[in-house]
Amino acid sequence: MKNKKALIAILAAIVVIVAALLIWQPWKKAETPATPAGEGAVKVGVSMPTKDLQRWNQDGENMEKLLKEAGYEVELQFASNDVATQLAQVETMIDNGCKVVVIAAIEGSSLGQALDKAAEKGVKVIAYDRLLMDNEHVDYYATFDNYKVGTVQGTYVKDTLKLDEAEGPFTFEFTAGDPGDNNAGFFFNGAMDVLKPYIDSGKVVVKSGQTEFSAVATPSWKSETAQKRAEDILAANYSDGSKIDAWVCSNDSTALGVTNALEANYDVAGLGWPIITGQDCDKTNVKNMIAGKQSMSVFKDTRTLAAQVVKMVGQILKGEKVDVNDEKTYNNNKKVVPSFLCEPVFGDAGNYKTLLIDSGYYTEEDLK
Ligand code: BGC
Repeated sequence: MKNKKALIAILAAIVVIVAALLIWQPWKKAETPATPAGEGAVKVGVSMPTKDLQRWNQDGENMEKLLKEAGYEVELQFASNDVATQLAQVETMIDNGCKVVVIAAIEGSSLGQALDKAAEKGVKVIAYDRLLMDNEHVDYYATFDNYKVGTVQGTYVKDTLKLDEAEGPFTFEFTAGDPGDNNAGFFFNGAMDVLKPYIDSGKVVVKSGQTEFSAVATPSWKSETAQKRAEDILAANYSDGSKIDAWVCSNDSTALGVTNALEANYDVAGLGWPIITGQDCDKTNVKNMIAGKQSMSVFKDTRTLAAQVVKMVGQILKGEKVDVNDEKTYNNNKKVVPSFLCEPVFGDAGNYKTLLIDSGYYTEEDLK
């Protein structure tokens, strides 16, 4: 009798526990809703390097818009190209309860303190466009295929001058990006890998003798710095009226500096413009392409990158598998960071209408 009662009590307890478990469903992962809206929405931090360059304004705006549309609360900051400001801004984002921070670094290896703090507080970090270096707490990286940007530039120059068939010699100069930006080396190496064989064979001559990244780099990617260096090179090597066939620039802000230097200190009317490469399809540079000053740029549709990052943020917050397509290229000196690489495409005066206007990136008005 006693045993029977005890058995019933145990069975009843089991039924209660099972019923409670069925209601509670603890095996279902705590999920952040895909569209957490309104009060208490999940916060995401977006840290951009500067408002000075068109592209980062666009990146910031796109990210903010798409994240808000997905229902997140957004803390967007621009750091005036000042490393200490960016560090403080990212730390504040973490203190303010952001669950994911998306960072386009001014200087790749200077945010370690903030990344350690993120890891301590369980905040996930996505490196945006530029890799965060020398720290293991970088969860993902989303960018364009930076090496490919360089090969697109190098191949454009090679094909336009028909370097394989033509006799030469041709005269080139190079201008690269910021040594503190991990991308800069990828761009330069991509272009150099295409063009170096012609330098080695003597078909291409670099009169300044500056062919190493360290010699051609442009701190902070500043147009003025690129312009000053170009002016010095022109004065030292081309004041005899000799021709330059190509000036290989890693991006549009440096191309702009070189273009300005050539316009004022080189006989463009008599010798014609050298081939000038660029990257970003900034408005000023597209206008220069239309005017025949800059030859090409590489279009990196910031809408695509922003959309990809917003997708990754959602996947992280929902505990889903995060979309990456490269798990070998981007070693930040501590780990290989799982990356998603978007495709860069070539742009010039011939295709800019389809590429930039028909796609809604710019209006006709923007380019007048
Ligand atoms: C970006 C380029 C940009 C450059 C200067 C690089 O990290 O990838 O698109 O032109 O920074 O802002």
